[in-house]
Amino acid sequence: MEYLYQIYKEFFPIGVAVGLEHLEKYWDLLKHFNSITPENELKFCEVHPEESTYHFEKSDKLVQYAKENNKLVRGHTLVWHTQNPDWLFEGKMVSRDMLLKRMEDHISVTVDRYKDSIYCWDVVNEIFPDGEGKLRDTRWKEIIGEDYVEKAFCYAHETNPKAKLFLNEYNCEEDIKLDLIIDYICQLKKKKIPIDGVGVQGHYSIVYPDLEKVRKMFYRLAKLDLQIQITELDISMFAFEDHSCDKKAPSREMIDAQARYYSKLFSIFREYKDVITGVTFWGAADDFTWLDDFPVIGRKNWPLLFDEKLQPKKAFYAIADFRESQIRKMEELYKEE
Ligand code: XIL
Repeated sequence: MEYLYQIYKEFFPIGVAVGLEHLEKYWDLLKHFNSITPENELKFCEVHPEESTYHFEKSDKLVQYAKENNKLVRGHTLVWHTQNPDWLFEGKMVSRDMLLKRMEDHISVTVDRYKDSIYCWDVVNEIFPDGEGKLRDTRWKEIIGEDYVEKAFCYAHETNPKAKLFLNEYNCEEDIKLDLIIDYICQLKKKKIPIDGVGVQGHYSIVYPDLEKVRKMFYRLAKLDLQIQITELDISMFAFEDHSCDKKAPSREMIDAQARYYSKLFSIFREYKDVITGVTFWGAADDFTWLDDFPVIGRKNWPLLFDEKLQPKKAFYAIADFRESQIRKMEELYKEE
């Protein structure tokens, strides 16, 4: 049997977000992926819970696992508005200089530790809110000013000039946000800020977004002359506004719709293989997904390629069998002639 990443080897690495506590359970499933993202282990609050204390035990273990199993590691994430420790913005008089120093220390220690093992970093995460056309109001922005983003990229680059540095964002296909991302990145490039890529999170659902919108997004992002990675892919069974909680299992219609969505989405990814340098799923199997608690706490969801018993779903075959479906299409064409 070929693993998924082997099937996609001419296109892009196939990654998965995984927590250390799930490594054993998913050992066999993880063979399908040649890249991993620590799901939480590298976030600020995990790595740097107190000003003078760093905890790298968990991330070290994941990185070691990746090394021993020939997988790339994506670093997620250096600067974000959430999952931060209290001390970071604490003290009545946290000045711009103090917070910049804290940011620089955090970035330089963390990026340096994995200089040889983490090939790319989500330097900033979710810096744009939905629908507003401006940088998100965060403590980072409030205390440092809007250039906190530029500083973060510079600190990461100074620490490891080889690392590929990403701006990671959700809902990138939304018109207002896409305009903003493109504008913003053009400005960063004009200022010679060392940015290498855009991370498109890819938290989608079986009804949203329209795939033509996704295609249009890649078309526009591709012109930036940067790498694009899909960094947190999952396809929820529910529209974002749908808060219903009555399903104990996904219906057949849901499973089929999800497989069709994944299939079309991956055909768009393949079209853009020249600029897409990675596709990472936000989880391995439906027994554990952050969507069980978002946007509705405790509502089961089934957004991934493997089911709750860790068996491949239709969605898995939909993206794994693309060569066969192409052959079938060709055969049908010849028949028609
Ligand atoms: C999520 C994790 O999956 C959860 O385990 C955690 O409780 C909260 O964060 N966008 C991101 C990710 O950039 O870091 C988030 O991960 C999911 C949304």
